[in-house]
Amino acid sequence: MGRILVVGSINTDLVTFIDRLPEAGETVAARDFAQLPGGKGANQAVAAARLGADVALIGRVGNDGFGHLALASLAEAGVITDRVLPTENVPSGIATILVEPSGENRILIVAGANGHVTPADISEEALAGVALVVLQLEIPLETVFHVMTLAHGLDVPVLLNPVPAVALDPERLRGLAYLVANRGELALLTASPVESTDQIAAAARKLVRRGIAHVVVTLGAGGALLVTATRVAHVEAPSVAVVDTTGAGDAFIGCFAQTLVATNDVDTALSRAVRYAADTVTRRGAQTSYSEAKGFEQ
Ligand code: RIB
Repeated sequence: MGRILVVGSINTDLVTFIDRLPEAGETVAARDFAQLPGGKGANQAVAAARLGADVALIGRVGNDGFGHLALASLAEAGVITDRVLPTENVPSGIATILVEPSGENRILIVAGANGHVTPADISEEALAGVALVVLQLEIPLETVFHVMTLAHGLDVPVLLNPVPAVALDPERLRGLAYLVANRGELALLTASPVESTDQIAAAARKLVRRGIAHVVVTLGAGGALLVTATRVAHVEAPSVAVVDTTGAGDAFIGCFAQTLVATNDVDTALSRAVRYAADTVTRRGAQTSYSEAKGFEQ
C-alpha cells in the first residue's frame, strides 16, 4: 500500500462545552472544558493512520508546550512526523472551539506556526512513494498550490478539502483527483445554490467540468454525494446520538483517503467514510473520537 502524504495544519483545540452562547458583554458559565489535539491536517492524518494507513504529515508547530504535545500525539497515532518542523519565535496553532448541547461546533483558529508552512518545506523528494496527497486550507494558499503543482508533475493524485472556505480561482483546482467539500464550501466555490440534492449535484458538476475528477459533498446527517463526469451516487449516513461534531469532516477524509489507497475503489471509500464520520460524532473531540478499524467495523 502506498503512503498518504498530508500537508496541513496542526493545532491544539481549546474546547468549551456550552449550554448557550453569551450575548455581547455577558458572562455565562459553561459545562466543561478540554484541551485536545486538533488541526485539520493532523486530524486527517491521525484518522487515516488509526485505520492502518502509512501516513506522513508535513507542517509546522511552535517550539512550545502545545507543539511538543501535538507531536507526541501524532507519533502515538503512528503518523510519520520527521518533516514537521518545530519553528522558533511563533506559537503553535490554536483553535478555540465552542460545542453546543446539540453537538454543533463553532471554531476560531489562530494559525501561528501553520502560517509559516512555506513551499520550501515540500520538495519532490517528499512525494517519493506517495499514493495520495491530502491538502486543506489552514496553511498558506501558495504552499497548497505549490504542492498541487509538484504532485501533478509527478502524477500523484491530490485530494483537496477547501476549508476554511475561501473563493478560489477555479483554474487552480484543475487536475485535482478529489475535492471533498461541505455544502457551504461548494456554494462558495461555485457561486451556486445548494439547497436541494439536484442543486448540489449541479454545482458539483460545474467543478467536474472545470477538471476535477471526483467531487464529494459531505452532508452531515444526510450522508455524502459523489459526483463525477458520468454519475451521481448518494450514500445515507446511519442515525447516531450526536455528542460533538468537531472533526467529523476530517474523520471522513482520513477514512476516505485510507480506503481509497487500500482498495482503489471510490464507492467503498465513500460508504466507509460516511460510517466512520458518523461513529466519531458520538464522542467528544476530533482525534480523541477517532476509533481504530476494529472499533468502528464491529
Ligand atoms: O476540523 C476540526 C478542526 O478544525 C479542529 O481540530 C481545529 O483545530 C480546526 O483546525
